[in-house]
Amino acid sequence: MSAVISRTADPLVGDIVVPGDKSVSHRSLMLGSVAVGETQVDGLLEGEDVLATAAALRALGATISRHVSGQWTVIGRGVGGLSEPAQVLDMGNSGTAVRLLMGLVSTQRFATTFTGDASLNSRPMERIMEPLRQMGARFTSRSGGRLPITVEGSEMILPISYELPMASAQVKSAVLLAGLNAPGKTTVIEPQPTRDHSERMLRHFGAEVVSQDQAGGGKKITLTGQPELTGRSITVPADISSAAFPMAAALMVPGSELVLRNVGINPLRAGLITTLQEMGGRISFENKRGEDGEPLADLRVQASPLHGITVPADRAPSMIDEYPVLAVVAARAQGTTHMPGLAELRVKESDRLAAMARGLAACGVDVEETEDSLTVHGNPKQILGGATIAAELDHRIAMAFSVLGMVSKTPVTIDDGAPIATSFPGYVELMNGVGARIEVG
Ligand code: S3P
Repeated sequence: MSAVISRTADPLVGDIVVPGDKSVSHRSLMLGSVAVGETQVDGLLEGEDVLATAAALRALGATISRHVSGQWTVIGRGVGGLSEPAQVLDMGNSGTAVRLLMGLVSTQRFATTFTGDASLNSRPMERIMEPLRQMGARFTSRSGGRLPITVEGSEMILPISYELPMASAQVKSAVLLAGLNAPGKTTVIEPQPTRDHSERMLRHFGAEVVSQDQAGGGKKITLTGQPELTGRSITVPADISSAAFPMAAALMVPGSELVLRNVGINPLRAGLITTLQEMGGRISFENKRGEDGEPLADLRVQASPLHGITVPADRAPSMIDEYPVLAVVAARAQGTTHMPGLAELRVKESDRLAAMARGLAACGVDVEETEDSLTVHGNPKQILGGATIAAELDHRIAMAFSVLGMVSKTPVTIDDGAPIATSFPGYVELMNGVGARIEVG
């Protein structure tokens, strides 16, 4: 455990590439493992979460190799072709890895046991088990539906039609991945659209996936089961959820101008950009393009005077991982920023609503927390800082408070910077390279 100390930054100036998208990276390894033939992945995130997925898929029978940095090859086993792992699969900190893999193995006739770190083992898994039970899988879990969990794949697989009780791309994706090995059509109905990387990538590998808009803004997604998936090449965009940290910092640190290259701007992920622009942030898109079904662009971000807004609750799924850093930006904006519709933040790597409210208050920020909202009264002139923040095994809490330190009067300390490696290896070096003053240890 090594602490991270973030001091007032110099102007952030430069041209940077943040690591690959975590959601797309997990999915590229998983779909590559159930495709026939070779999948080449370029730009894979080599963070701990994705490395845990790679190790689990190897234990399930896929052949996965790393060539040079970011370039990986997967030789798949075909839909339904995975085999029983000899060991418990330790998914570390990663909710996406465990939930999607539980879906993938739940329609295979063998048993798999999953575990994780203290954060992951306290997160709710019933949301995955409920639909997968309907498909025929059986589970043995710790009390409260927590990990460690053993999944017994079904002999009799049933395709289902499932309406999501919460906006969760992980639950949607788990059901779709389970549906790959089910006969007939598996349908997921989502009340609010969530990130659609699974749908886009399933199509890229040759599956039939139909998305229909529903009255009221939701979507109905139908997958035709037992497709022949064929190995593909995939270019992983830079992760907008990682870009969020340098982007937020550049808007706030006077004199900054950063260009962030190759950032994924899938509309179901890009809610933070809209929000920051509404707050007065100068962010422009350059060189917009699409690769392998995912849109991307270079982003130019310039320091800007910012003002508070109310973020529409229905925007939350498109920026769910970005609220910690948005709350930091709100602390520096003129006026009040109100962020409703955040109940899901309580069950992330930490209770992010509580962690942000506690940490901001400790740094002298005027903040109000309710069961499902955060309200920050900003002060563009001064943030005191000076506190030591508990990272609680949560990478985004650690990085959000490192950004707060860049605009605080006295340094902000994060008790443990190690979780940053789950999603953003090289974060401290990259940020210091453009003007930040972050010290480790
Ligand atoms: C993810 C979905 C989101 C997000 C997580 C990644 C994914 O979780 O918070 O970081 O890759 O599907 P939920 O599905 O729980 O909202």
